[in-house]
Parts: sequence; structure tokens; C-alpha cells
Amino acid sequence: MSSSVEIRTLTTPQELFEAGAELVAHAAKEAVDERGRFTIALSGGSTPRSMYNLLATNARTSLPWDRMFFFWGDERHVPPANEESNYRMANEAMLAKVPVPQENVFRIPAENPDAGLAAEAYEATLRKFFALDPGQLPVFDLILLGLGPDGHTASLFPDTAALQEKSRLVVANWVEKFKTHRITFTLPVINSARCVVFLVSGSDKAIPLQSVLQSDAPGDKYPAKLVRPPNGKLIWLLDRAAASGLSTAA
Ligand code: 6PG
Repeated sequence: MSSSVEIRTLTTPQELFEAGAELVAHAAKEAVDERGRFTIALSGGSTPRSMYNLLATNARTSLPWDRMFFFWGDERHVPPANEESNYRMANEAMLAKVPVPQENVFRIPAENPDAGLAAEAYEATLRKFFALDPGQLPVFDLILLGLGPDGHTASLFPDTAALQEKSRLVVANWVEKFKTHRITFTLPVINSARCVVFLVSGSDKAIPLQSVLQSDAPGDKYPAKLVRPPNGKLIWLLDRAAASGLSTAA
């Protein structure tokens, strides 16, 4: 199990996003104070957009952006200008609005028509940035994740090949229901983080969240269950709507 699992339920989505932004800001300051830099992998989808906006608005002048290094935990197989791009979302919501040096931003090169080559290139980027020896895993200060309605996280979808990957850092994962590849961190990378934070909002996540947190459903069916950083913190930041299916007795 993780060294610690924390579930925090906020009343409204706005309070959730504020709590998420505060958590990221605190983690950034602490990492820079302790290790001289902050490494974060951003999540995609729609939930984190408001939190990214808040960080750009509220922390534009208070964070050590030049010592902060941004990666993505997954990416759709599209160019960076595509409206589906997780890079585009985070760049528009936050990175383009703050004084982070461009060389501190490492997007997944998902414009490559060969998703496998894009994954290999991003893995090489991680190995170089973290100066990894063969077999060594990167240790991110913070990895942000979301939860899909089917229990997926990053682009680790139920019953997909990436769930079984034990040595690669980044893979192209074929997602049959979308008839496309996604490029994603593997579980070894996610579970190597110092801290993993799930940001989950909305009543449509209540049922998958209950399955992930309070059922014995298999991890292959609910991949978010497989996120358990043995040497890191695991924090679930929820709003009341997402948490509405959780039994408080648990
Ligand atoms: C993606 C994300 C994915 C996302 C969940 C939740 O590429 O879409 O990485 O894992 O976090 O699907 O998405 P929403 O926040 O849009 O509900």
C-alpha cells in the first residue's frame, strides 16, 4: 500500500480547484527549498483546467516558476494545436500565462504519426532529464491524475496492454473504444512519485470512485486502483458530488 493515503472532500468544485492549486503551490515551494527544483506531471481532460487557471492567476508572482519543470502523464495522439491536446489545455490555462521558461516545459511529441516513436522519444526525454541508469525510475515530486468514468487514469484504460507494462516508462497504448493510441506514463513511473494527487469532480465520477476506493473490483477493470506509490503520498481531492457514492463508514 502507499506510505499514506489521504481522502479530502471539498464541498464545491471551486473549493476543490482552490485546494488543488494550494497543494501544487505548497509542493512546488517545498521541493525547490529541499531539492532546488520541482518536477510535476500534469493530467489532462477537463477537470484540471480550472485549477491550472487558478495557479496562473493566484500564484503567478509567488512561485519559483524558473525552478519548476512540467511534464504530462499522458497525451492524446494529436498535434499540440489540436483541441484534444492535453498540452494545449494546460498551456492555454496556465503555462502561457506564467514566467516558466520554455525549456522547462516537456510536452509529449504526439504529433508523430507513429505513436510508438512518440512514446520512445518521451521516454528518452525522461531518462535524460532525470539522468536515469538502465532500470532506474524517475521520481516526480508530484503527479496529477484524473479519473475517467470507466475507472481509467492517465491513459491507462481498463483491459489495455499498458496495464501490464513493468519496465518501460512511457508507452503507446491502443484504446479500442476510441480506435486510437494514447501515449501514457506506465504504472511503474506513476507509482515511483513522491506524491500522486487525484483531482476528481462531479457526480458522474461517483460510481467509478466508489468502485476504485471501496470495492474489491480488479485493477484491470479500474486501473486507478493500481496507483499505489509505495514510497509516496497518495491524495484523493474530491468534491462532494464525486464523493457522493462513498460510504462514510469505510
Ligand atoms: C486524459 C486524461 C484522463 C482524464 C480522465 C478524466 O487524457 O483525458 O489524462 O485520464 O484525467 O479521463 O477526464 P475529465 O477530467 O475530463 O473527466
